[in-house]
Amino acid sequence: MKAVTPPHTSPVVGIDTLDDPRLRDYANLRDVSLRKSLEAAEGIFIAEGEKVIRRAIEAGYPVRSFLMSERWVDGLRDAIPPGVPCYVAPPADLARVTGFQVHRGALASMARVPLPPVGEVVSGASRILVLEDIVDHTNVGAIFRGAAAFGIEAIVLAPRCADPLYRRSVKVSMGAVFSVPYARMSTWYDGLGALRQLGFDVIALTPAADAEPLPRVVRRSRRPALVLGTEGDGLSARWEGQADVRARIPISPAVDSLNVAAAAAVACYLLTSQD
Ligand SMILES: C[S@@+](CC[C@H](N)C(=O)[O-])C[C@H]1O[C@@H](n2cnc3c(N)ncnc32)[C@H](O)[C@@H]1O
Repeated sequence: MKAVTPPHTSPVVGIDTLDDPRLRDYANLRDVSLRKSLEAAEGIFIAEGEKVIRRAIEAGYPVRSFLMSERWVDGLRDAIPPGVPCYVAPPADLARVTGFQVHRGALASMARVPLPPVGEVVSGASRILVLEDIVDHTNVGAIFRGAAAFGIEAIVLAPRCADPLYRRSVKVSMGAVFSVPYARMSTWYDGLGALRQLGFDVIALTPAADAEPLPRVVRRSRRPALVLGTEGDGLSARWEGQADVRARIPISPAVDSLNVAAAAAVACYLLTSQD
């Protein structure tokens, strides 16, 4: 393996072994618990694919290093900041380090930046999403992507909601996790009450048959906060009870519920269609 550098100021760094500590940022990318602790300890996340890497850099996240196969270097060369190493390896070595076939060929280790407080993120927003304890990183990424597509201005996460900067979320979102502002609540218990005090109409999305049809609810809502529940059990009783209104996307009685990311996309579209 070798390290290539852009034409400007980066030093050339040789990598002789796959155990090189400089590759530690990229180790075992499929091992969720290892990655969670490593990324939290190091304050990093992994961006994958040229488009997503460029979007992360444009959004202002500092890059620690790149790891890619030779064929991606020219395409990304102009995006490599001075002094940042770019490690290059054959695809088989990439797979050995990361634990999977890196189809999009390029990875970047990026530094996290502190999240703003909820109040700051939602101030000035006229429509937001609130995610309670979504577990699946794919769903988080897909929700951000749909939110960006339909003009949602901010997303608020419950304290235990999965991390939007986990590699899978970042990838599925196609970088929307960098463009839709988000914040994490510090407390779950009074989280919705705080949003109401900030002037939002808190709308709990549930497939329950006794909830009001969402199209009717969005027509009268001035500043909607659409609240989505976890994949298995849906919204907690506390949050459903705290909402101003419970609303459902009408679906066939033959189907229990929508996937949470699909529900989010439909609900966001309904908001957009009021414009
Ligand atoms: C897979 S569902 C959870 C299903 C759970 N058994 C329930 O009854 O809520 C995950 C989340 O998606 C949203 N959702 C799914 N289908 C919906 C629908 N038809 N109308 C409104 N929200 C829906 C809700 O926010 C729900 O908490």
